[in-house]
Amino acid sequence: MNKDVKEIIVTENDIDERCRELASEIEAYYSEKAEEPLVIGLLKGSVPFMAELIKRFSIPMEIDFMSVSSYSGTASTGDVKIDKDSDISCRGRSILIVEDIIDTGRTLKQVVQLFYDRGAKDVKIVALLDKKEGRVVEIEADYVGFDIPNAFVVGFGLDYNQKYRNLPYIGILKEEVYS
Ligand code: XMP
Ligand code: MG
Repeated sequence: MNKDVKEIIVTENDIDERCRELASEIEAYYSEKAEEPLVIGLLKGSVPFMAELIKRFSIPMEIDFMSVSSYSGTASTGDVKIDKDSDISCRGRSILIVEDIIDTGRTLKQVVQLFYDRGAKDVKIVALLDKKEGRVVEIEADYVGFDIPNAFVVGFGLDYNQKYRNLPYIGILKEEVYS
């Protein structure tokens, strides 16, 4: 275990198993509708999760990425800015947004609205982690990997000042690292 991690709350094995389950639920949804989803990962945190999910899909799909920022350090600032936009048109399409974690919900609420404003016909969210206690605006993911307590976590895409994204598990960071 990384020396800065206090406790592992989701193991590599948990992630692997849950991603298979999520992928089959999501795949069933799009095959039923006969829709090719445009899967959009929110950079950078969703990258490992998105890779794990999409390799389990056998349906035709496209992928793209977008970068929005709402965070600096360990507390939400409340405003969301588009740093890199998606290149593929979402007009008339079914969009699946892939996010690492939902906390206050502000990021996803604004991103979902943005896609509807741009003419998407269906927008679904899959989030690896959900911190329900942190919610400030009303929004729920359609698919959630794990509900977690309101602690700052790192690993499997999640960072603290850009570090720890490479850890293969989700862990709670030791307070001394950020205090
Ligand atoms: P909101 O509050 O808009 O935030 O739902 C979602 C974004 O906040 C970041 N976030 C975290 N990042 N560990 C992280 O590394 C955490 O515990 C954490 N909680 C929220 C994350 O970037 C997410 O996209
Ligand atoms: Mg993020």
